[in-house]
Amino acid sequence: MSSNKQTTANPAQGTIPAPLSNYKIQYTKIFINNEWHDSVSGKKFPVINPATEEKICDVEEGDKADVDKAVKAARAAFQLGSPWRTMDASERGRLLYKLADLVERDRLILATIESMNGGKVFPAAYVMEIGFSVNVIRYFASWADKVQGHTIPVDGKFFSYTRHEPVGVCGQIIPWNFPLNMLMWKIGPALSCGNTVIVKPAEQTPLSALHVASLIKEAGFPPGVVNIVPGYGPTAGAAISSHMDIDKVAFTGSTEVGKLIKEAAGKSNLKRVSLELGGKSPCIVFADADMDNAVEFAHQGVFFHQGQCCTAASRLFVEEPIYNEFVQRSVERAKKYTLGDPLKPGIQQGPQIDKEQHSKILDLIESGKKEGAKLECGGGPWGNKGYFIQPTVFSNVTDDMRIAKEEIFGPVQQIMKFKTLDEVIKRANNTHYGLAAGIFTRDLDKAITVSSALQAGTVWVNCYNMLSPQSPFGGFKMSGNGRELGEYGLHEYTEVKTVTVKISEKNS
Ligand code: NAI
Ligand code: MG
Repeated sequence: MSSNKQTTANPAQGTIPAPLSNYKIQYTKIFINNEWHDSVSGKKFPVINPATEEKICDVEEGDKADVDKAVKAARAAFQLGSPWRTMDASERGRLLYKLADLVERDRLILATIESMNGGKVFPAAYVMEIGFSVNVIRYFASWADKVQGHTIPVDGKFFSYTRHEPVGVCGQIIPWNFPLNMLMWKIGPALSCGNTVIVKPAEQTPLSALHVASLIKEAGFPPGVVNIVPGYGPTAGAAISSHMDIDKVAFTGSTEVGKLIKEAAGKSNLKRVSLELGGKSPCIVFADADMDNAVEFAHQGVFFHQGQCCTAASRLFVEEPIYNEFVQRSVERAKKYTLGDPLKPGIQQGPQIDKEQHSKILDLIESGKKEGAKLECGGGPWGNKGYFIQPTVFSNVTDDMRIAKEEIFGPVQQIMKFKTLDEVIKRANNTHYGLAAGIFTRDLDKAITVSSALQAGTVWVNCYNMLSPQSPFGGFKMSGNGRELGEYGLHEYTEVKTVTVKISEKNS
């Protein structure tokens, strides 16, 4: 490992150091019982840098047999009387705080990995991916000794109380767009509440999770509490969702796979399921909005991380009187990007995650052209290596076009026109998805009326993508089940037990 001393100034975040150059990946195996394992099958799979299409390293390929091993370890760690089950709850919090400190210590390594493996521009990896992850672990660390039941006022001859117990062994399946954040969103509440976990990172981006595995051991978590099995979805992922000895599965990813996971849970042991799935989130700009603010947030809302966000503001509705100016300004903004290797200074847009996503996005862009949307800028691939796509803006988009209905997950903005408030509410809700929404207006009545009417788990007013560890996040409709983050996120990881005790009459 070596580093160069070059730094980038960022007024909002202080100084961001340069990424490590020629960083050599240290962890490529399966992590079970705080030990590194080869895969049972002997197979490995390649991990690719999406900016160069070159292999970074090979990683052990976990499958059903490896998931079985991990489940045994997690089950043993969860047994009554085990160190994990008998630990003072505040000690679980201390271990999580320690983990947060170690992630912070290794921030440069982890940000370099995320940028190289996930295509995230380095400043976003450093500030957002790693910084937010640290905040999320600390947030859940602080809950460990505060999740508690109640005493219940029942018939006076009885004493009744509730216990908030951990659910048990939890399978957690992670996507590639926010590999470290999604890991922390999932293990944070699970460990805080006393569960044990088997994590399957996405096959495209397993490297940061494996580095964190080494930190789990260093922090002092008992063996078997956290197990990390890299591998593919239909094999390792499906082994988790259909496992008879996993008590709960949490998933972030496509709606298509979310349905498979729920089905597998139903067909096996009816394990608890929480899902955070895709979106086609509306962003509504009224004519009275602060134009500069709305253009910038609407832009960031869809272009952040190359459009690879579940919350992407990919249906932008703009009120008729300001439509033309808004389109013009949005196009000017989108044209300002510098594309290239996300590890290099000054690069604002990196590659899409892989060839499959690249092709899917280009196919949707072509459908937009064919179905009659006006291509304002971009519209094709960029460069001669790496999975890059030109920042693309479509105007004159209508609700029936594929680009207005399907999740694109790319740097592609769709701008539609609307005339009335009732019309835009109906159109915004006319989707199977319901993850997030944005509203831009200076009129408080309008902001409150529309935010109440929208079917979305999160509504941002005069901003977009403002997430915090304290605020619950999740979807209405086919964008998911359950909530992550905030106090609500803990509910997914506890079972409530009612205990009722008869008070002996002899004592009364
Ligand atoms: P995906 O849903 O297939 O993959 C996400 C995770 O699920 C990965 O860890 C994968 O290995 C696992 N998985 C895949 N098939 C599985 C199965 N049968 N059982 C259990 N686990 C399985 O997503 P993919 O194919 O990478 O992307 C497809 C589309 O999904 C994207 O274009 C985007 O629209 C959406 N997506 C949404 C995300 C979100 O943040 N909500 C994240 C990633 C993708
Ligand atoms: Mg898939």
